[in-house]
Amino acid sequence: MNQPTNRILNLLAAGFLCLALGFWFNLFGRPAVPAEVPLVDLAFIATNTARLSAADLIRTGGDTSGLECYACHDKKQPLKLKFDAESNIVLPKEHEDIVMGHGGHKRNNNCFNCHDETNLELLQARDGRQIKLVDSTQLCGSCHGPTYRDWEAGVHGRTSGYWKRELGPIDRKGCTSCHNPHAPAFPGRAPAPAPHALHPAIAQPEKESAHAH
Ligand code: HEC
Ligand code: HEC
Ligand code: HEC
Ligand code: HEC
Repeated sequence: MNQPTNRILNLLAAGFLCLALGFWFNLFGRPAVPAEVPLVDLAFIATNTARLSAADLIRTGGDTSGLECYACHDKKQPLKLKFDAESNIVLPKEHEDIVMGHGGHKRNNNCFNCHDETNLELLQARDGRQIKLVDSTQLCGSCHGPTYRDWEAGVHGRTSGYWKRELGPIDRKGCTSCHNPHAPAFPGRAPAPAPHALHPAIAQPEKESAHAH
C-alpha cells in the first residue's frame, strides 16, 4: 500500500477511536429518556365475547348443570307459569339468576315464547319448529328476521376464521354469545383510550415553525 493511503487510514482509525472514547465517557451527553408509555388495559384487546352461550359453555367444558332441566323438573307433569297481580312472572329461587327484560313493556317475557312446553330442554320457534338450546340463533332469527339476515351476511355480530374456506372454517358467533336471551339489551361499555403518540414532540409540531418559509 502507498504512503498517502496509509496516512488516511491511520487518521480515520484515530478519529473513530476518539469518537468511541467520547461516547464512552459521555462527553456529548445522552438524549433524555422518554417517559414510559403506560400499557393499554388488556380488557380492551381481549377477544372473548360479552358472555358464554349454552353452546360456548358446552364446548369449553363449563358447568352445564343449569341446562339439564329434567334434573329438577318432571317430564310427565305439565309446567304452569306463575304470575303476580301485575302479570309479572314469579320465579322460584332455583331460577333467581334469571332477570326477564326482553323488549319494552314485558313484550317477550313469557318463557314459552321460546322454551318448548312439552320438552323444556328444547326451544320452540314461532312456526312450531323445535330447536336445540345450542342452536338458539335459529330461534332468535324466527322473530328478528332483519337482524338475522344482517347476521347471516356478516354485518351484525362477529365473524372470524378464514376468508378462504378451503383453508378452514369461519367462526360466526351466535346471538347468545353476546345477548342474554332473557334480557338482551346490550349493556354499554367503556370506550377504548386514544392512541399514545410515540414521539409526542414530533407528533405535535408547533404551528409557527411548521409553516415557516
Ligand atoms: C335446580 C333445579 C332446576 C333446574 C335445573 C331447572 N329448573 Fe325450572 N324450575 C325449578 C323450580 C323449583 C321451579 C318452580 C316449581 C315449579 O313450577 O315446578 C321451576 C320453574 C320453571 C318454570 C316456570 C316459571 C314460573 O312461572 O314459575 C320454567 C318455564 C322453567 N322452570 C324452565 C326451566 C328450563 C327451561 C330449564 C332447563 C334449561 C329449567 N327450568 C331447569 C327448578 C329448576
Ligand atoms: C317470540 C319472538 C322473539 C324471540 C324468539 C326473540 N325475540 Fe328479541 N325481541 C322480541 C320483541 C317483541 C322485542 C321488543 C321489540 C320492541 O320493543 O320494539 C325484542 C327485543 C330484542 C332486543 C332489543 C333489546 C330490548 O330488550 O328491547 C334484542 C337485542 C333482542 N330482542 C335479542 C334477541 C335474541 C338474542 C334472541 C334469541 C335468544 C331473541 N331476541 C329472541 C321478540 C323476540
Ligand atoms: C327470548 C327467548 C326466551 C325467553 C322468553 C325465555 N328464555 Fe330461557 N333461554 C333462552 C335461550 C335461547 C336459552 C339458551 C341460553 C344460551 O345460549 O345462553 C335459555 C336458557 C334458559 C335456562 C338455562 C340457562 C340459564 O340461563 O339458566 C333456563 C333455566 C331458562 N332459560 C329458563 C327460562 C324461564 C324460567 C323463562 C321465563 C321466565 C325463560 N327462560 C324465558 C331463551 C328464552
Ligand atoms: C358479537 C356480538 C353480537 C352478536 C353475535 C349479535 N349481536 Fe345483536 N347487538 C350487538 C350489539 C353490540 C348491539 C348494539 C347495542 C347498542 O347499540 O346499544 C346489538 C343490537 C341488537 C339488537 C337491537 C338493536 C338494533 O337496532 O338492531 C337486536 C334486535 C339484536 N342485536 C339481535 C341480535 C340477533 C337476533 C343476533 C343473532 C342472529 C345478534 N343480535 C347477534 C352485539 C351482537
